[in-house]
Amino acid sequence: MGISSKSFSKKPVREESALTATLRRIDIRFPWLKIVGVVVLGLIVIMDLFGLTISRIGDPGDKISIAPMARHVKITERVLEGKKLVALTFDDGPSAETTPVLLNTLRERDVPATFFMLGSRARNNPDIVKKVKEEGHEVASHTMYHQNLIRIPASAAAADIDEAKGILKSILGQDVSLTRTPYGNVNDTVRGFVGTPIILWSVDTLDWKIKNTDSIVGITMSEVSDGAIILMHDIHPTSVEAVPRLVDTLRDAGYEFVTVSEMAEMHGIKLANGVSYYSL
Ligand code: NI
Repeated sequence: MGISSKSFSKKPVREESALTATLRRIDIRFPWLKIVGVVVLGLIVIMDLFGLTISRIGDPGDKISIAPMARHVKITERVLEGKKLVALTFDDGPSAETTPVLLNTLRERDVPATFFMLGSRARNNPDIVKKVKEEGHEVASHTMYHQNLIRIPASAAAADIDEAKGILKSILGQDVSLTRTPYGNVNDTVRGFVGTPIILWSVDTLDWKIKNTDSIVGITMSEVSDGAIILMHDIHPTSVEAVPRLVDTLRDAGYEFVTVSEMAEMHGIKLANGVSYYSL
């Protein structure tokens, strides 16, 4: 104890005096350096206040205009650089049984996702819809009744889309900005009146069909790439159970998670109404 405290007390004193001497020499030769230092520090503080981070400076390929989301400021603002991006998307919910379980998993792992909800289910579970949004996820429309929009009269398809938008707006207090048409079916008529970008997928996990965690992870890892949109369904327990391992496996492979709108923004893609997107 005595020896170690002695050796520790000596070292800092010597270092400090050497440092002070060096600083004094620098100060004499470059008196303006202090002012420059203060100005640079001030700029860093101001940029930090505006949500810009030091790591973003000098990175022209990156966009600094990503709107920080309530819970995912760290992910969207700081950790995404150099990462491949994926968007997890969950269709056909919300479900009072499985969606809250999924929300817990996503919260624990700090993963934002995009939920393409059915208006008919949203209407019955407004509190879950609100919670999904409040937890930093993106809520989008999967139409009202999951009809095959290209097989029903155009007027019925338009009415179905509008009804879902109306329900989601009444719950969320704002318009949804994305639609996923059921079965991915879309034609020129639907494109004409959908009124939002149409978000399809590049990785179909077939979770609704196979209902197996290994298979969901296996299919995803064999098909995923930067900008992928992964299709899952939060109404199946097996799909929700697969998410922890899916998230961990994707992160191990260098992927990070964003919502669909965030990914478009990060990749500099301006989404247009009536246009279908499979990856971003
Ligand atoms: Ni669906």
